[in-house]
Amino acid sequence: MAHHMIRKAVFPAAGMGTRFLPATKAIPKEMLCLVDKPLIQYGVEEAVAAGCTEIIIVTGRDKAAMEDHFDTSPELEAALAAKGKQALLDAVRSLSKLAKIVYTRQAEPLGLGHAILMAKELVGDEPFCVLLPDDIVDARVPCMKQMVEAFEETQASILASEVVEGPAISNYGCLDCTPDARNPRLMAVKGMVEKPRFEEAPSANAIIGRYILTPRIFEMIEGVKPGAGGELQLTDAIKALLQHEKVYGFRYEGKRHDAGDKLGFLKATVELALKREDLGPGFREWLKSVPL
Ligand code: UTP
Repeated sequence: MAHHMIRKAVFPAAGMGTRFLPATKAIPKEMLCLVDKPLIQYGVEEAVAAGCTEIIIVTGRDKAAMEDHFDTSPELEAALAAKGKQALLDAVRSLSKLAKIVYTRQAEPLGLGHAILMAKELVGDEPFCVLLPDDIVDARVPCMKQMVEAFEETQASILASEVVEGPAISNYGCLDCTPDARNPRLMAVKGMVEKPRFEEAPSANAIIGRYILTPRIFEMIEGVKPGAGGELQLTDAIKALLQHEKVYGFRYEGKRHDAGDKLGFLKATVELALKREDLGPGFREWLKSVPL
């Protein structure tokens, strides 16, 4: 097989965000802000750090806020320049220069598989990555960069995985897999089960919201039968892909936050704020004074 590079990243961002209502009634979940950046920006920066040059965002309603966020803003830039606020000006300007960003639409939220299918023409015939913007991975080497490096070895689809002990595994897709001799972080996938009962889970390896997929996945999604609520599940398409190609799990180094959930979002806010040089010290002092 020809040696492939990963250039494109798909961001499914057309879900309803029901777990975060009422905040997500008029604002897409992906625009909720952790400290001072919307969730989608963390993901886009991670994809760019992994070498992606084209970002494909699959939106539903309310895509204007996302488009504006990554667009130039001449009035704001002029105002910041006039006030001599150089650091803020640089931060705002760099946003529109991050990468080529294109948008496509999922008319109805018919599942993660369906959302990814909306990017089929834009991706074309090359492997690509998928980042779910509400999974925030805090890592020394950005999670997707670690995965792209692993892809150099495998040249096959890779699913980021985290060990989830106990009954919480029932909230995830779960891998049936064996260790790979080449790389202790890689696992060869034999099968997968979506949201298994704890007693029936094949392992403690949960799938999280980072994937590298080969383009054959589109054909597999097209062949998937809709499940509950007419949704096309990505897990079913990856299972079908397993009949044709190797698929790997990858234990990334880093800490994931589920920022699509209220409690997860609060934890992420506290941890990321404590790590900030500008805010951390003051925030830490204040936290000590909070009656617990
Ligand atoms: P989630 O299930 O976490 O998102 O899907 P959701 O449906 O918006 O959230 P809740 O459960 O109602 O609170 C994971 C990702 O896939 C996208 C979502 O936007 C989210 O980023 N997604 C999901 C789509 O783009 N389209 C879909 O049909 C479903």
